[in-house]
Amino acid sequence: MTGGRDAEADAAVRPGERSSVQPPMAMLAELTYRCPLSCPYCSNPIEMAQREAELPTPAWTALMAEAARLGVLHVHLSGGEPASRRDLVEIVAAAHAADLYTNLITSGIGLTEKRLDALGAAGLEHVQLSLQGVDAAMADTIGGYRGGFDRKMQVAQWVRARDFPLTLNAVMHRRNLDRLEETIDLAVAMGARRIEVATVQFHGWADRNRAALMPTRAQAREATRIVHAARERLKGTLVIDYVPADHHADYPKPCMGGWGSTGLNVTPDGRVMPCHAAHTIPGLEFPRAGQTPLRDIWYDSAAFNAFRGFDWMQEPCRSCDRRTVDFGGCRCQAMAVTGDPAATDPVCTKSPHRPALVARAEADAGSDAPLVYRAGP
Ligand code: SF4
Ligand code: FES
Repeated sequence: MTGGRDAEADAAVRPGERSSVQPPMAMLAELTYRCPLSCPYCSNPIEMAQREAELPTPAWTALMAEAARLGVLHVHLSGGEPASRRDLVEIVAAAHAADLYTNLITSGIGLTEKRLDALGAAGLEHVQLSLQGVDAAMADTIGGYRGGFDRKMQVAQWVRARDFPLTLNAVMHRRNLDRLEETIDLAVAMGARRIEVATVQFHGWADRNRAALMPTRAQAREATRIVHAARERLKGTLVIDYVPADHHADYPKPCMGGWGSTGLNVTPDGRVMPCHAAHTIPGLEFPRAGQTPLRDIWYDSAAFNAFRGFDWMQEPCRSCDRRTVDFGGCRCQAMAVTGDPAATDPVCTKSPHRPALVARAEADAGSDAPLVYRAGP
């Protein structure tokens, strides 16, 4: 990959823009909400765009070039399951031709050796494989797809045989956190260079399954110990990215690196949003790719400017030293818990909503609620 944020992109930036808002680094392209799996923590919305509403091939290929001109460096091809799109190779080729670094985020279902060869020839540079569990019994139960685990192990071998760098994406929750050590060992055995140990974030279907998935406080603490020990033990072998359970943390995560600061998400039907859950914030309207120039959406749209910078903040964030570290946390979580998207993330110890959040998390963690599986579009 060479940089998309080059002289051409810089020259195209309007006078005055660069001083306040930088171009986005990454674009998450949700090519489709279709998926053979039905993970109960899927971040896709409960109400999904139907197949007929998906952007056609020329719209996606044009968007890749437009994103590169805006300054985007990386495109993450996601879904749903992006391999459900028959035109995936064409879209990868367009992204590669636009000089974007291409990462495929996939369950592996729908990939064959022939298709991986075609994707490699089209310029695919990285594969990120989801991992639902460490064995077939666990993974197939959580993913709601029998045979998925065995298929995934096969796909991982094909990926490694073709020398694609492999990252595993392991969403952890109450039902699999006790096997975190095995999860990390499996990543090494599969030849992954990196694993994202991501404790479930409660958006989309995960929010509906909050009681079934919420980790216990003891699990959250033990997970942090395991990750720190594994990072030491596996230095030079495996990089471990870690998203801890924020309901059991003192401060929120810097969601999206700050609203409208580093990346944009495009939904299957072309809406361009600052994050995958932004549609849950009432009053925000999201322009569509192909109808409004991406540059105008990024710099000028009301949705992308809604929570940029610090002026929108309320106390205690407004005068807090950590506002440049976590940007007040997650706007969508603030909305979901407090009903006010400009509120301090309720995870924060300084939020007046924190005690209620913790009490609810403790209650959820002790629940025996069944899993509700994601339904397809
Ligand atoms: Fe972050 Fe706001 Fe909490 Fe300060 S008050 S730590 S800025 S969420
Ligand atoms: Fe929307 Fe965090 S998911 S700001």
